[in-house]
Amino acid sequence: KEGKRNKLLEVNKEAAKYFYYQLRSQRGSIGYRYLADRQLSDEMMKKFGLGFSNVSSNDLVQYLRTKGYQDELIQEAGLASFDEKYGVHDKFWNRVMFPIQDINHRVIGFGGRVMGDAKPKYLNSPETMIFDKSRNLYGLNFARTSRQSNIILCEGYMDVIAMHQAGFTQAVASLGTAFTAGQANLLRRYTEEVLLAYDNDGAGVNAALRAISILKEVDLSGKVLNLEPYKDPDEFIKNLGTEAFRQRMEEAENSFFFELRIMEKEYNLKDPESKTKFHREIAKKLCGFPEEVERENYIEAVADKYNIGFDNLRKLVTSYAAQTG
Ligand code: UTP
Ligand code: MN
Ligand code: MN
Ligand code: MN
Ligand code: MN
Repeated sequence: KEGKRNKLLEVNKEAAKYFYYQLRSQRGSIGYRYLADRQLSDEMMKKFGLGFSNVSSNDLVQYLRTKGYQDELIQEAGLASFDEKYGVHDKFWNRVMFPIQDINHRVIGFGGRVMGDAKPKYLNSPETMIFDKSRNLYGLNFARTSRQSNIILCEGYMDVIAMHQAGFTQAVASLGTAFTAGQANLLRRYTEEVLLAYDNDGAGVNAALRAISILKEVDLSGKVLNLEPYKDPDEFIKNLGTEAFRQRMEEAENSFFFELRIMEKEYNLKDPESKTKFHREIAKKLCGFPEEVERENYIEAVADKYNIGFDNLRKLVTSYAAQTG
């Protein structure tokens, strides 16, 4: 079994080299231009080992065969698929390729982006014996030694690379799936504070809310970056630059207040009935702080922020806490 794992790592590494070489070749120049147009430096393309999968659909399989790899292994690595009509054929074609590395810089899978608007925008390797999406994070192989006081968690490959290019080498992304407890535990080995930089859209906000509760479960503190008026870290940095991003990091919002701000949208604070319901929900949420000092501090801050009488809010919290034990 260990032998099989090593074989899978080996064929992934060979594929990464092949894609990398293709990006620098004549045929891959369209991919290179795409990345350059997105303002990625040569240095970053190299650091992240970016590559290109060709238009003609069986290049990688043929190359790997000449290197002595069996079709079965190539398929098991998720690099090729099989169907009746075409037989064994490349999974990735005509995409810029992002090798996904584990914390020891070993290639365990790939993400591939189309260069236009076709769907799916990104195609990712399937899970394999060496690629567990819930236990790896894109960029963590670099972020783990970045010696920063936090780790920035975002959605996308391009976001990670854009942040690293701007000097924020503590940026990581979950791998085209929702952030998991396994990933939270992984992060906890390297940091105590996570700055969430998810996309500034409905999906991103929901993903951030879920991430906050997962982080809480492993006792990691989370803060939320405001990327307004841009959609994601990549676009923010491209438009407003490094210093503005650093500023937003400093102003990152306490995750509890972020949650309340999202919750607040469901209520009409001009209507006393709706407003009361909102305050009750806040009180219930405050029960989630078991430690007394912390709870008091939050009650105080919330009372102040939402103009609720401190004693009233405190009484309400106490009554809910008694109910729920
Ligand atoms: P986004 O749709 O936000 O794309 O997906 P993006 O990262 O901003 O991509 P660009 O800037 O248009 O190139 C965020 C992440 O979700 C995963 C990828 O990991 C992507 O980076 N994703 C997205 C997929 O796996 N498949 C998809 O079809 C789309
Ligand atoms: Mn998104
Ligand atoms: Mn995005
Ligand atoms: Mn983007
Ligand atoms: Mn006040």
